[in-house]
Amino acid sequence: MDQRAFYVAGRPEHGTDPVTVRHPFDGHAVGTTTVATAEQVERAVSAASAVAAEAAALPAHARAAALDHVSARLKERADEVAHLITAENGKPLKWARAEAARAVSTFRWAAEEARRFAGDLQRLDTDPAATGRLAVVRRFPRGPVLGIAPFNFPLNLVAHKVAPAIAAGAPIIVKPAPATPLSALLLGEILAETALPAGMFSVLPLPNERAASLVEDPRLPVVSFTGSGPVGASIRRSVPDKHVTLELGGNAAVLLCEDWTADADLNWAAERIATFSNYQAGQSCIAVQRVFVHEWIYDGFLPRLVAAVAALRTGDPSDEATDVGPLISEAAAQRVESWVDEAVTAGATIEVGGLRAGATYPPTVLSRPPKDAKVSREEVFGPVLVVSPVPSDQAGFEAINDSDYGLQAGVFTRNIQTAFTAHRTLEVGGIIIGDVPSYRADQMPYGGVKGSGVGREGLRSAIDDYTEPRVMVLTDLDL
Ligand code: SIN
Repeated sequence: MDQRAFYVAGRPEHGTDPVTVRHPFDGHAVGTTTVATAEQVERAVSAASAVAAEAAALPAHARAAALDHVSARLKERADEVAHLITAENGKPLKWARAEAARAVSTFRWAAEEARRFAGDLQRLDTDPAATGRLAVVRRFPRGPVLGIAPFNFPLNLVAHKVAPAIAAGAPIIVKPAPATPLSALLLGEILAETALPAGMFSVLPLPNERAASLVEDPRLPVVSFTGSGPVGASIRRSVPDKHVTLELGGNAAVLLCEDWTADADLNWAAERIATFSNYQAGQSCIAVQRVFVHEWIYDGFLPRLVAAVAALRTGDPSDEATDVGPLISEAAAQRVESWVDEAVTAGATIEVGGLRAGATYPPTVLSRPPKDAKVSREEVFGPVLVVSPVPSDQAGFEAINDSDYGLQAGVFTRNIQTAFTAHRTLEVGGIIIGDVPSYRADQMPYGGVKGSGVGREGLRSAIDDYTEPRVMVLTDLDL
């Protein structure tokens, strides 16, 4: 098995400590790489810092050409990329293909944003004293970005760090998740084919314990982190003067409102909730976890939901027909199992699912869970959903908001006023009407409130985040 290189200031290199990446389904080795040494990390950071001014001055066509190249190459290599994602992450091939396609579009969108990102003009002659004055407001990179990516989307969540940085003209150092470095390294290989200046990107496999010194390095003024709440909170505490974007967890909820009564509507909601509670074995921050159903329809809906979950095929993620594969590790599956056991002991009913096999946990529905059970309050990050009746739509909104998190929510309604009430009332970063909270288009602003983080990803939002506005006032103009 060839050892994959990592990228220091745009060039392939190897470190000294080997890393073997294993398939979460059966533990076989799927690739090897090495850990970056302290000297290599230092070279990456000083190169990013040295190239910052040149990167910020790159013309739009150069940034867009690099991004278009990455998009095109990911498309050409989509099958290989999808197999690599499945191999290191364990997500079923169908979901790995979806992720690869999304990464193609993430880079394409970034190229488009790079071309259109121009700034604003503001009239100042709204005041007689400012006659002949005009403000040109442009955004300039804050400086090199440190991107720390999670394991659950080993390619596309790395893309969401790298693509907006290149579009904005900011150098980036990306640290992939230790369990899933290979997709990020493949991305590094493609980035190295571009004409971006050396130093503009580095991809460094590092254990999490070595991230703190990068987070604290003053040469990296922007930190974009996706991962767990406690780590995100410690980053925020450790660098209060840096610009930090945190995409943290969630326990995404859906509400089936009182008007959602038609047979076809109930079947659609059951299918969508079943699928998106269990896609990637529930390891998405916006996987459906909490399901609230208006009490009028609860009894008619629950059997449909249980049937849809029971119909999902669990097994080998390399099989094109598999819907649900393993979690990232056996330890993760054991934790999910212990949370389900806790809820059942406290009075929840298992409607379907519940028996773990190694790292695989079967899609599970728990009805009427206690409000204070971990499966109701924390982020499960596994293929488990909890379903509860609510006496009114308003009570459903309150139940959704009764959470330490606030990433996205789904509201099944055809009533436009209910949709607007949800939009005004729900304490989340995004609301999907007529579908699950798991919907994400890569150009949309994406992020949360409360424990779900600060800042937004999505190409345009991330570009804004990586840059700051600078005003130039022109005077004495004949406007
Ligand atoms: C996440 O888990 O936060 C990312 C979800 C997505 O990109 O679909």
